[in-house]
Formats: sequence, C-alpha cells, structure tokens
Amino acid sequence: MGKWIEVAAEADFTEPVRVVEYDGIDIAVFRLEDGFYAIDDECSHDEASLAEGEIVEQCQVECPLHGARFDIKTGKNLSFPAVVPVQAYPTKVENGFVYVEVDD
Ligand code: FES
Repeated sequence: MGKWIEVAAEADFTEPVRVVEYDGIDIAVFRLEDGFYAIDDECSHDEASLAEGEIVEQCQVECPLHGARFDIKTGKNLSFPAVVPVQAYPTKVENGFVYVEVDD
C-alpha cells in the first residue's frame, strides 16, 4: 500500500514544477496541461535535478546537466546518456489539494 503525501493546494500550484521530499527522496511534481505528474527528481544518469530542466514537447523534461530526456508521465528515459528510467508516482487532486503516492 502506498501513502499519499500532500504537495500543495492546486490553486497555489502555479509554477510548472515543484519538488517534494519524502523519506530522503526528492520527487518532482509537474503541472502539465492535462494534469499533475510525478517522477524522481534525480536524473538516472547522474546527480542532476530534473525539476531544474526544461519542459519540452509538452510532456518531456530535458536534464539540465547532459540533456537526457525523460517522459514526465511515465519516467521512461527517451535519450542518451540516460539508459534507465526514473520512477514515476501516481498523483491525484482531492478537495483542492495535489497528492503524490509514495511507497510506504
Ligand atoms: S545527469 Fe542527467 S543526463 Fe547526465
């Protein structure tokens, strides 16, 4: 069973991405046109923050360090030098708040 952690009030979530920390892991929560998506903040290639990358093609993030791209909706690695995905997390909006489900 996962545990839902609160990210922010939806009305306050005006930026394209926020980072929440749970149990030592930073999770990047993106606000895309069709909803909220969460993936590990740390790039799977090295220690860069994906939240500091650029959102491209509407649903991809480009790592700020070496340019690997990831699918924000699934965490899938889309280009080198990343060769493994990052973890994606379920999200929901309930009573006006954005939540991410993490492993308990
Ligand atoms: S740290 Fe992200 S591509 Fe190298």
